[in-house]
Amino acid sequence: MIKNYADPQWKNDMKIRLDFNNMMTDFIGEQGIKEQDIQDLSSKIEIAKRAMQETRETTMAWRDLPYNQKEVVADIVSYVAEVKDQFDSFVVLGIGGSALGPMAVQQAIRHPLYNELSKEKRNGYPKFYVADNVDPEKLVSLFDIVDLDKTLVNVITKSGSTSETMSQFMIIKEVLENKLGKEAAKKHIVCTTDQEKGNLIKIAKEEGYKTFYIPSAVGGRFSELTPVGLLPAAMTGIDIEGLLAGAALMDEMCQVDDIYQNPAFMYALLHYMGMQKGKNITVMMPYADALKYMADWFAQLWAESLGKKFDRQGKEVFVGQTPVRALGATDQHSQVQLYAEGPFDKIIVFVGVDRYRANLQIPKIYGDVPSLGFLGGTTQNQLIAVEQMATEYAVMKAGKMNMTLTLPEVNEFTMGQALYLFEVATAFAGELMDINAFDQPGVEEGKDATYAMFGRPGYEEKRAELDARPSKKDKYMIG
Ligand code: PA5
Repeated sequence: MIKNYADPQWKNDMKIRLDFNNMMTDFIGEQGIKEQDIQDLSSKIEIAKRAMQETRETTMAWRDLPYNQKEVVADIVSYVAEVKDQFDSFVVLGIGGSALGPMAVQQAIRHPLYNELSKEKRNGYPKFYVADNVDPEKLVSLFDIVDLDKTLVNVITKSGSTSETMSQFMIIKEVLENKLGKEAAKKHIVCTTDQEKGNLIKIAKEEGYKTFYIPSAVGGRFSELTPVGLLPAAMTGIDIEGLLAGAALMDEMCQVDDIYQNPAFMYALLHYMGMQKGKNITVMMPYADALKYMADWFAQLWAESLGKKFDRQGKEVFVGQTPVRALGATDQHSQVQLYAEGPFDKIIVFVGVDRYRANLQIPKIYGDVPSLGFLGGTTQNQLIAVEQMATEYAVMKAGKMNMTLTLPEVNEFTMGQALYLFEVATAFAGELMDINAFDQPGVEEGKDATYAMFGRPGYEEKRAELDARPSKKDKYMIG
């Protein structure tokens, strides 16, 4: 991609846009929001805006990532240049915030069938794999296809102790050492973790692995623009400066005080107001295969940040909104019936693209078949755009809240904007909801229970608590 991030005209053309007409009563009737409803919330909005400013330096260290990583970027770029030719495969070991971002960005920017391309067509970059589960079939199947002599493994874990990731690391390290010898294996492992805390940093130092750091104050699901996402992106030839430049532009847009001009604040506010009206589900429906994993990444961000039992005063609130991933046009034939005619319990966010990276003409044939003839001579680009508009129209007519986010193109710059927009929106929604968007006690509970069941020292009390849970009853089991 041409590096024209400094050209104001180009930047302006590449701005992503939010159209929220179909959230409003003018378009969807009584289920919608009135401008007056927004006006009525103005003092709450002002408090949330102030909190966003005041906590930028403390709980929101991720907001400065577009600006403060020159050395990190230089280190990543030179490391990638040094190692890329040595490896045919690059494997990320990580989970949650340490895997979803790398997958989203790689899928968005690189060729849809990237791993199937020849190395030459991949511009010399290695194939890209993510092992983000502990399903044994997955890792074993990876061993079936990668040549370990030519594989670089990136272990990504902020805490350095996540069982899924560390178990994969332990398995792969042994396999590598058995095959290549201890010394040679070291060059096949690169770690991304907290600089001070956790087991992985200790292991990396002791065993001599190249390591990139996740800033301590940046939480897992907000870490895509740290080496968590930047190293995997660079390893497949993605311009990471473009991602950061896009995020910086969105940061500017998110500092605009007028909520009607601030896409992240408006996105959050409308979702917050939707929740007040019983919209407990938000569907993200990109009309681009390239953005399918972005919806997965967003789902974790929104769910883990906003799904909370307590507010900041410690009062039980049980809040949150369930994110659902869909894909246009595919899910028009699967989910849209429900979205149009089902309950008034969701907001649908369409994500469109102005210019796809391919143009595909539909041949002008079957002109005498009315149900096909109208397609001939048009393009798939037109078809997908029209289908998106038609679906927006159908759900609007059905009175369902929906909005549309449009990326002029899918590239590094627009992806950087999108990721940053969703992060700020999540934080702002947390402010409006008066909850801590940056912790995940519900996840920790499951992690602790796993440790206890495995008999990890220090988890004896949790083990006793688990042992005291009611035994399952046969009468409630079939088969
Ligand atoms: O957002 C979060 O903090 C979590 O989803 C983590 O990313 C996830 O649990 C993985 O944690 P870690 O990077 O410590 O292995």
